[in-house]
Amino acid sequence: MRVLAIESSCDDTAAAVLDGDGVRASVVASQDLVHGRFGGVVPELASRQHVLTIVPVVKRALAQAEIGLDDVEGVAATYGPGLIGSLLVGLQAAKGIAFARNLPFIGVNHLEGHLLAILLDRPVAFPYLGLLVSGGHTSLYVVEGIGVYRLLGRTRDDAAGEAFDKGAKMLGLGYPGGREIDRLAAAGDHAAIRFPRATLKRGGYDLSFSGVKTSLRQHLLEERGAALPDVCASFQEAIVDMLIAPTLRAAGDLGLETIVVSGGVSANRRLRARMEEEGARAGVAVAFPRFAYCTDNAAMIAYAGRARLLRGERHPLTLNAAATLPIGVGPKALAPTGTATEVGGA
Ligand code: KG4
Ligand code: ZN
Repeated sequence: MRVLAIESSCDDTAAAVLDGDGVRASVVASQDLVHGRFGGVVPELASRQHVLTIVPVVKRALAQAEIGLDDVEGVAATYGPGLIGSLLVGLQAAKGIAFARNLPFIGVNHLEGHLLAILLDRPVAFPYLGLLVSGGHTSLYVVEGIGVYRLLGRTRDDAAGEAFDKGAKMLGLGYPGGREIDRLAAAGDHAAIRFPRATLKRGGYDLSFSGVKTSLRQHLLEERGAALPDVCASFQEAIVDMLIAPTLRAAGDLGLETIVVSGGVSANRRLRARMEEEGARAGVAVAFPRFAYCTDNAAMIAYAGRARLLRGERHPLTLNAAATLPIGVGPKALAPTGTATEVGGA
């Protein structure tokens, strides 16, 4: 089945084509230049920009795949979680195409897309431990199968990417900040400053990133004169440590053999290196999607959507966007037998 997928949950407009042979096209139009001078995503500007770019992006994906709409056999779109105005643009475009062409349609949870993105690159046996680290989410899941995700822990406050972005803003760096900190940290000493690592006593596998952000602010107020690359490397190291500790503990406790790291922050080079190093030491395999599938993209939405469409799941075209959409909760998708299955899994 050849699936056209659209993703517009935040500040990237993306479209992809996926069939049985793999990704035929994946196009992402970034809005970094639009939001950069504000140091963060401005929701109203994001939705307006999506309106301008959605049609060209879909056209480009079709051209890249060397197909026309006649060749599309199913349509998928992210319907949450995300910025409601942003989600609506991609979702409406996808529903419009499905309606006009009378094609099967499925809404996809953005988080499910991130958790499954690795499968675009290589097979990974279920169950695996999924660490999802993005600008809006930081959570640990056991991925038991497609549609079956068990939440183990999540951040109590900021997402890891949010900590990177807010830290970068304090340091006067560009947006998105994670990439900038990653770049500058490469030339810095990650042991130069010891930022505190939060450990939650009764949190199970929960995480917290607001403390490290506050200690960075404190450090800057005190003007201790450390070089910028050292501050970046030390701040990054604290975040990386706080992500690695509960992840490896969970893998050990549950006897999981593979850790899959996904979401925008999984592009971080230090996180990749350290996770691989410590995973190897603990005898756990660590997998990261390729860079292009770490940050927001439509190929991962195509993967999740296609898997569900192939199982016969469909959403009605009345499906609405949802700003908050915990994985495992959502409108019922109809299976071919007429039995209802929960989108996002148990
Ligand atoms: O998954 P994503 O593209 O969008 C969301 O769903 O949030 O993640 C974006 C986040 C931003 O916070 C950005 O700063 C962070 O991913 N990010 C990075 C890196 N590249 C992107 N954080 C650390 N290091 C990077 N290299
Ligand atoms: Zn994302």
